[in-house]
Amino acid sequence: MIQAKVAEILESDQFLQEFKVSGWVRSFRSNRFVALNDGSTINNIQCVIDFEKFNPETLKRITVGAAISVKGILKESEGKQQRVEIDVKEVTILGDANPEEVKLTILSPKRHSLEKLREQAHLRVRTNTFGAIMRVRSKLSFAVHSYFQQNNFYYVNTPIITGSDAEGAGEMFKVTNFDLKNPPKNEDGSIDYKKDFFGKETNLTVSGQLEGETYALGLGQIYTFGPTFRAENSNTSRHLAEFWMIEPEIAFCDLDGNMDLAEDFIKYVVKYVLENCKDDLEFLEQRLANEDKTKPAAERSEMGLIEKLKFVLENNFKRVSYTEAIDILKDSKPNKKKKFKYIIEEWGADLQSEHERFLVEKHFKCPVILFDYPAKIKAFYMRLNEDGKTVRAMDILFPGIGEIVGGSQREERLDVLKEKMAELGIEEKELWWYLDTRKFGTCVHSGFGLGFERLVQFVTGMGNIRDVIPFPRTPQSAEF
Ligand code: 4AD
Ligand code: MG
Repeated sequence: MIQAKVAEILESDQFLQEFKVSGWVRSFRSNRFVALNDGSTINNIQCVIDFEKFNPETLKRITVGAAISVKGILKESEGKQQRVEIDVKEVTILGDANPEEVKLTILSPKRHSLEKLREQAHLRVRTNTFGAIMRVRSKLSFAVHSYFQQNNFYYVNTPIITGSDAEGAGEMFKVTNFDLKNPPKNEDGSIDYKKDFFGKETNLTVSGQLEGETYALGLGQIYTFGPTFRAENSNTSRHLAEFWMIEPEIAFCDLDGNMDLAEDFIKYVVKYVLENCKDDLEFLEQRLANEDKTKPAAERSEMGLIEKLKFVLENNFKRVSYTEAIDILKDSKPNKKKKFKYIIEEWGADLQSEHERFLVEKHFKCPVILFDYPAKIKAFYMRLNEDGKTVRAMDILFPGIGEIVGGSQREERLDVLKEKMAELGIEEKELWWYLDTRKFGTCVHSGFGLGFERLVQFVTGMGNIRDVIPFPRTPQSAEF
């Protein structure tokens, strides 16, 4: 007897061999055909039961959602739907699922909205859609590591609890073990953080970049891949309060090298899933096509999912300066006709996702790398250009997603960095260790951050970021 996963059995040619397989019942038709899935593939194995030979009490317990184990003989299937099936000799019920209760959950075999599935995030992975998304997500994670390891980057684990605000945006979750009803106070009534667990104010990290930089300036090239946290109150389909970010950092590399790396990296991981997640991507492509049919024509995607992924592989990302982009946007139809929510009036304006999506989806119709942004709208650590008003920043914009990557060449000059921090009121004593890297062997270096969930969104075609992470964390929502 061969114990195997559904995925292996579906590929097997060992006909007339006895197999054992365990999984969850997806359907049981005509008291005869069990569709069994164990998560190893989008496809089910058909298990054929000759009901006359089985105890009716056992058959009654083969219900949707139940966990069972079957032993039987692998045969070529007579049905057209599948190549092989198992002629069942023995069934063991491992875990019952009461049909009356299943009926009230998303396990019941009918269409459920994505919103409904989110409410039962602990069960949704048993649906075709979420099984496919989560398998693709796992493969993408592996591809991330494999790309950087093949290119001799070191994986660094930066702290999750930190005292610094890397992005200077102040969107942080505080970490404390104070009794919030009665925290120790200073004489002036403020909270005495010296008495807190770490002896200072701490928060969950918004980015591992600053610590990552210190490691790049020793190991040469590193990457992080870990959870990051942002308390931004933006309830959008692109924002999570807890998301995973990949942040490579490279010594002796300027902004051009940084853009080359980002583009090469994204192409590698997309190619990897195209080659390794064929069944799941085909399913997700069909899902997207069905979803598109319910939308007004103008909102439908021009390409199928797989075609869109191939398009990214086969075309160079368009590199455009912020200044060029502003000119394009100022002259654009939606700007002139005041269709944008935020009208672009002049150079210096921050780009909103409507502008980014216009550039990518309507104007260039391909992934775009915008670079050389105004210093005023970017973080303190970005390298100032000779013009004194722009910085060596880059954002990569993707169709349907908007910003997927944010990065820059870093300010390596101690005096310029200090000046910038003073301007923004960032205290030197808070970042003394960061400044040390500019004192001891400073050098040109660059890096970027890619939001992993936005990448998973792009690859799976899912419109809402809540549907590409197992248990999404968003404002007012931290169930499970
Ligand atoms: O552009 P951001 O804020 O850049 C940084 O954090 C830099 N320290 C990165 C670096 O240079 N090492 O964030 C980087 C990316 C964004 O482009 C986006 O893909 C993703 O992280 N991101 C989010 N993803 C989901 N939910 C959120 N709230 C996100 N905020 C940023
Ligand atoms: Mg950004």
